[in-house]
Amino acid sequence: VVPKPLLVKDEDNEVELASGKTKVTVFYGTQTGTAEGFAKALAEEIRARYEKAVVKVVDMDDYAVDDDQYEEKLKKETLAFFMVATYGDGEPTDNAARFYKWFTEGDNKASWLQQLRYGVFGLGNRQYEHFNKIGKVIDEQLSEQGAKRLVPLGLGDDDQCIEDDFSAWRELLWPELDQILRDEDDTTTVSTPYTAAVPEYWVVIHDPSVASFEDNYLSMPNGNTSFDIHHPCRVNVAVQKELHKPESDRSCIHLEFDISATGIKYETGDHVGVYAENCDETIEEAAKLLGQPLDLLFSIHTDNEDGSPLGNSLPPPFPGPCTLRSALARYTDLLNPPRKAALIALAAHAVEPSEAEKLKFLSSPQGKDEYSKWVVGSQRSLLEIMAEFPSAKPPLGVFFAAVAPRLQPRYYSISSSPRFAPHRVHVTCALVYGPSPTGRIHKGVCSTWMKNAVSLEKSQNPSWAPIFIRQSNFKLPADHSIPVIMVGPGTGLAPFRGFLQERMALKEEGAQLGPALLFFGCRNRRMDFIYEDELNNFVEQGAMSELIVAFSREGPEKEYVQHKMMDKASCIWSLISQGGYFYVCGDAKGMARDVHRTLHTIVQQQENVDSSKAESIVKKLQMDGRYLRDVW
Ligand code: 2AM
Repeated sequence: VVPKPLLVKDEDNEVELASGKTKVTVFYGTQTGTAEGFAKALAEEIRARYEKAVVKVVDMDDYAVDDDQYEEKLKKETLAFFMVATYGDGEPTDNAARFYKWFTEGDNKASWLQQLRYGVFGLGNRQYEHFNKIGKVIDEQLSEQGAKRLVPLGLGDDDQCIEDDFSAWRELLWPELDQILRDEDDTTTVSTPYTAAVPEYWVVIHDPSVASFEDNYLSMPNGNTSFDIHHPCRVNVAVQKELHKPESDRSCIHLEFDISATGIKYETGDHVGVYAENCDETIEEAAKLLGQPLDLLFSIHTDNEDGSPLGNSLPPPFPGPCTLRSALARYTDLLNPPRKAALIALAAHAVEPSEAEKLKFLSSPQGKDEYSKWVVGSQRSLLEIMAEFPSAKPPLGVFFAAVAPRLQPRYYSISSSPRFAPHRVHVTCALVYGPSPTGRIHKGVCSTWMKNAVSLEKSQNPSWAPIFIRQSNFKLPADHSIPVIMVGPGTGLAPFRGFLQERMALKEEGAQLGPALLFFGCRNRRMDFIYEDELNNFVEQGAMSELIVAFSREGPEKEYVQHKMMDKASCIWSLISQGGYFYVCGDAKGMARDVHRTLHTIVQQQENVDSSKAESIVKKLQMDGRYLRDVW
């Protein structure tokens, strides 16, 4: 395929169309980069197939500077695709949040988008209650507002193979696009699916004795006025301690980042994004598998170093020069199961033909079940797979561009309040550690880093990490006299510790506090009753009216927070009926779902209504912002 210079970028997103050309806009709402990668791949493929297409890839955040411009811009779109991920508790990704709010809450008329033909591919995970909610809503609303749906909504499921879902969805698209974009005199048929050539970084090796090696990304001055995912702030670990008692065979870490003199601001209930590093064991194994020394000093480059999303689907190269050790520690995801695209890239560099064949098979449509079982089902990490195919040693440029995805920041609900700890961000983190189905001991990247972190209390040379704050709407009511009910077992306690610190500070300032109930759950009081003394103190000091703890492994029967909620059903409903707020934080797949059902039951029983009426009452609480969830 001869590349055509049809991807156009300009300052204000406007495209000058030569006659006979059709503009296609591919929007993406991405959190970890998958939707972005799909958007770019789709754009490349449309470009390769259709001479008349002028394709633009648009980060939803960049589409309009302010909300007033959306309408005018969208009215000009005639052909658009939306690659949108659903995140957290059925929420849009950070970069799609503003657009989503405007699009779904604005008073848009029924037929104002008649000129637009569109397709939506959603990225989600079927394990979660709000599977692909954002994709579903955007797809529905576009149609309701008059746009014409070209293909059925794609429901990407990251619990299985989302790349397959995306490929299948694209196949539905081509016959439709053929009708719109294929020139009448164009008789060529594209029979085999187009696959983008594997892009490469090129690598420059530096002589360590000559290059003065300064790690520029992370020694950056903390002089920014605001920090975000792309501009994190380097902070020291001030405090690090174990929260579980010695009898416990698990671990939960309390960590405090020192944010004094950084300008970082946060609010109670916000999240902190943390860029951790892979542990030494992981890094050393990766270097061995790549056949390269850890002190190798190198830099990587692409043809478009400004990181512009046009024309190639690479993540921007990380700043260099940098040692292989740093690159593997900070920038590469080595422990997740590889995507099929990574297997294809590995196959291209497997010297042993049988290995190349097997890798190709795993990434092929015929190998779908094998991939789903052998790679995803058994949670084989990228490193495990590389170890199984030792002849596949990709060059560093290929490895960083196409094999190992970029290591993503991990998000934590902040467990402090700035009223109590203005110079600290507290994190409460359970250690992820245990055997995977293949028998490998899986160690979570960030929790392991936190477990091993050395604090300022213990060393002059403490551990540090780049962090940034992500705002949330998980907030206490503005009126402090309104009752609050909090449900947070395990590390789900985190934001409520912040809430209680805040209430304590308010009380000290003389505020009149409404009642506050906390349902906490853990296994056994001698093992994992975290922050026990603090919680009792909150009760003694009047920041909380009652602490109700469910111990799941003390008695003969499991007792969970939702069982305790049933015991207190009338009290809960009476507080909510007085205008109270109901908060849930913690595991989405099990706990939050069960707590949701329990709330439903409580409403049904207390109000003496049928199930559908109870559901509408719970929905209304949610719509009013009085039933809030911070779940993962
Ligand atoms: P378990 O480990 O004994 O099953 C914090 O992790 C607490 O939440 C633990 O006591 C844990 O119990 C409990 N837990 C596990 N699954 C739960 C669920 N679906 N609902 C509520 N609590 C749950």
